[in-house]
Amino acid sequence: MRRAVCPGSFDPVTNGHVDVINRAAGLYDELVVAVLVNPGKAGLFPVEERMELLRDAVADLPNVTVDSFQGLLVDYCRTHDIPVIVKGLRAVSDFEYELQMAQMNRELAAIETLFVPTAPQVGHLSSSLVKQIATFGGDVSRLVPEAVHDRLAERTRRAEQ
Ligand code: PNS
Repeated sequence: MRRAVCPGSFDPVTNGHVDVINRAAGLYDELVVAVLVNPGKAGLFPVEERMELLRDAVADLPNVTVDSFQGLLVDYCRTHDIPVIVKGLRAVSDFEYELQMAQMNRELAAIETLFVPTAPQVGHLSSSLVKQIATFGGDVSRLVPEAVHDRLAERTRRAEQ
């Protein structure tokens, strides 16, 4: 059984994440999408809501599950017997830090990292930009899954009241 984990903050999930998850799901028997619980950084959406939005976004992928983790990613991998981390690469600027993490995770626990280049149509997407655009009333409907779009619109409306 080939298993992999696709980790991230997913605050919130974008169409770029969905692209990488879809393609990774085609390469492994089981793919776990793992949301980092970062006590030092609240983020826009609580972790439970990020997971709910992710579950909705991957509902058509039967071999994908959504989980959360705290602490080191390699510890999560070891506990769940997952030998591979899948990360998306949008641009060369992503590469330097991702390479460093991949080499560190390999040194720490012999966990391999597989890089998936994002589709060019979604290479410019990031959760931070999506949040910024939505906060100022911009249209993010083509950048995120529908449920995320609705949730962002709801939050913007509430903030305006
Ligand atoms: O979506 P992000 O914020 O780019 O995801 C980064 C993430 C969660 C993959 C990375 O920060 C991570 O693995 N954090 C867990 C802590 C850890 O293992 N740190 C050592 C990395 S070598």
